[in-house]
Amino acid sequence: MFPRGREVILGVGGGISAYKSADLIRRLQDHGFLVTVIPTRSSQNFVGNATWAALSGRPVYDDLWSDVHSVPHIRLASSADVLIIAPTTADLLARIAQGRADDLLTNVLLATKAPVLLVPAMHPEMWLNTATQANVATLRSRGIYVLDPDVGRMTGDDVGVGRYPESSKIICALDEILESKADLVGIQVLVTAGGTQEAIDPVRFIGNHSSGKQGYAVAYAAAARGAEVILIAANSHEPTIEGVTTIHVKSADQMHEAVLTHFPSTHILVMSAAVADAKPLQESDKKLEKSTYQSIELTPTVDILKTVGALKGSQILIGFAAQTGADGVAKAKEKYGKKNLDFIYVNDVTDGAIFGSSHTTGAILDGQGVIEEVAGVSKMTLAHKLLDLASHKLGLPND
Ligand code: CTP
Repeated sequence: MFPRGREVILGVGGGISAYKSADLIRRLQDHGFLVTVIPTRSSQNFVGNATWAALSGRPVYDDLWSDVHSVPHIRLASSADVLIIAPTTADLLARIAQGRADDLLTNVLLATKAPVLLVPAMHPEMWLNTATQANVATLRSRGIYVLDPDVGRMTGDDVGVGRYPESSKIICALDEILESKADLVGIQVLVTAGGTQEAIDPVRFIGNHSSGKQGYAVAYAAAARGAEVILIAANSHEPTIEGVTTIHVKSADQMHEAVLTHFPSTHILVMSAAVADAKPLQESDKKLEKSTYQSIELTPTVDILKTVGALKGSQILIGFAAQTGADGVAKAKEKYGKKNLDFIYVNDVTDGAIFGSSHTTGAILDGQGVIEEVAGVSKMTLAHKLLDLASHKLGLPND
């Protein structure tokens, strides 16, 4: 269900500036990208696989003839949202321009449909050589992005054009290629997802139909925009999101505790979980007999959002309201005020619509009233709209 946009394959060519790709990995991760490294054999003269594995947190792929049964070049090629080769040596430029496929990296490059960004770095004479310039022109004519190297000091005493650019310059180019935003770098986003379960006895509980899809979409979108994301998930079966810290809880009390722990350092709280409004007054530690099961005495759960609404400083609070009647907007306005929110999304859940679906219909409100109505948009689209509003209200630059 998630949109693409986060998987980067980083090819590393055999140049002295290969070590600079260590910083590039970190900066890519700061921007919400997940990085898999494919070093060339000659690059291993400069930096070893252990560095790439430790920094990327993933296996390093350097051999066309390993794991042949899993056809790694095709698997890697199709997993990539973008392929960067940094540094790209003069030899790699030549091999790519010729369409060679004599190692894993060039195989992946030929097989991928993802955009390719090359970051050449070499001595000025090699960069300005007619052969290299002809290769660059050929590659650009084929739609491959080739960054111009920086001007400055080289490995020896010479100065000129050919330096490996700053990581920020490479990431700017990447953002332009992917049209991605990184406006939430340095921002902590706390998201709740799923539905709490309030135990009656060891077997039964009071719960609801929330799937967690909306909260997971917010967590994914925020991470893709560079935020540090903590996701508090209640009883959801959504797949784990790499790069997001997920805390699993069951009940409203557990969710309350987790939210309170992380709220002080949070900039944006998106409370998309469906918290049960009531729990059994007493949880039985033994399975209840049918005969004793005529009625269950209930007590309200703590209103998590209201509690943090009362504590909040400059944080942005986004609440959700699930309504089934025509007065949904009026009820959401009431909640907005009562819980000291910045935004609330009200969706119509009549007949179980929305729960478990990847799409949603409803309205986003602030204190003035309806900001935007959405109809049948993906939960990911709604996630980005909510994050846009929060980012704007925090006064963050619109990247
Ligand atoms: N919420 C919460 N703690 C609760 C109940 C709800 O933090 N104990 C949050 C939900 O995560 C959601 C919003 O408050 O963001 C929903 O408010 P709520 O008053 O529960 O509204 P609904 O459940 O939609 O409707 P109702 O008033 O009918 O209960």
